[in-house]
Amino acid sequence: MPLPYIRLEREWVPSFDVYPFSLPAVRGLQTMPLHPAVTFLAGENGSGKSTLLEAAAIALGLNAEGGGRNIRFVTRPSHSVLHGYLDLGLEGRRPPDGFFLRAESFFNLATEVERLDRAKAFGGALAKAYGDRPLHEMSHGEAFLALFENRMSRPGVYFLDEPEAALSPARQLSLLGLVHRMVARGSQLVVATHSPLLLAYPHAWIYALGAEGIVRTPYERTEAYRVTSEFLAHRGRVLDALLAAADA
Ligand SMILES: Nc1ncnc2c1ncn2[C@@H]1O[C@H](COP(=O)(O)OP(=O)(O)OP(=O)(O)O)[C@@H](O)[C@H]1O
Ligand SMILES: [Mg+2]
Repeated sequence: MPLPYIRLEREWVPSFDVYPFSLPAVRGLQTMPLHPAVTFLAGENGSGKSTLLEAAAIALGLNAEGGGRNIRFVTRPSHSVLHGYLDLGLEGRRPPDGFFLRAESFFNLATEVERLDRAKAFGGALAKAYGDRPLHEMSHGEAFLALFENRMSRPGVYFLDEPEAALSPARQLSLLGLVHRMVARGSQLVVATHSPLLLAYPHAWIYALGAEGIVRTPYERTEAYRVTSEFLAHRGRVLDALLAAADA
């Protein structure tokens, strides 16, 4: 049974004038229905995608810096209090298995997996769940895909923050295939992304976060799609305008 929605318990919010409640995306948040397969959070830098994604992950009982329920590490606490004000519609049901992946702290997650195995926590076998080779001995992108192919095969709710960050365009398309396989196995994903390739996944809803709050948006209307397709279709013209503006 997937998570049905992310709802802000507005009546408990102390003030909409302070972060994180002051962000337009949070200020306007009521109930955001989640697609049973994939829900994308799109929008400009600073629009609040990570804030919302991280809060939902913590509300599900996951570590703020990434990982599943077995992972509990903190390098620098930076999460907001938003998680305490979110209702994920579980209504007393046992939370499903989950995993939170944020690009920024992936290195710390890999370090923590190695530390737990050295300490023989979980029988020293945690790293095996992440693939045959130690995460630190792979390139950033290789380790990312190993994580998807191995640890993410179990059905669960996956919160991914910019999973494209380490991946070449071709590997982003591989990731699309892996996402589809996860969905086929019963997983639900909530993904913050700037990638016009990932956003093309068809079994998904896209929410654009911005000054108007959170607005469900067709693929072709997302900024990621519009800017990229405009650039590729009219590269010379766009470059001329950009460089002229920079020279001015
Ligand atoms: N602890 C904090 N206190 C005050 N403001 C913060 C704090 N953390 C983040 N912000 C602000 O909240 C806004 C939303 O940040 P967030 O990281 O959620 O954006 P984002 O949509 O994920 O951006 P990006 O695409 O760059 O990852 C930003 O303007 C950021 O500066
Ligand atoms: Mg972010």
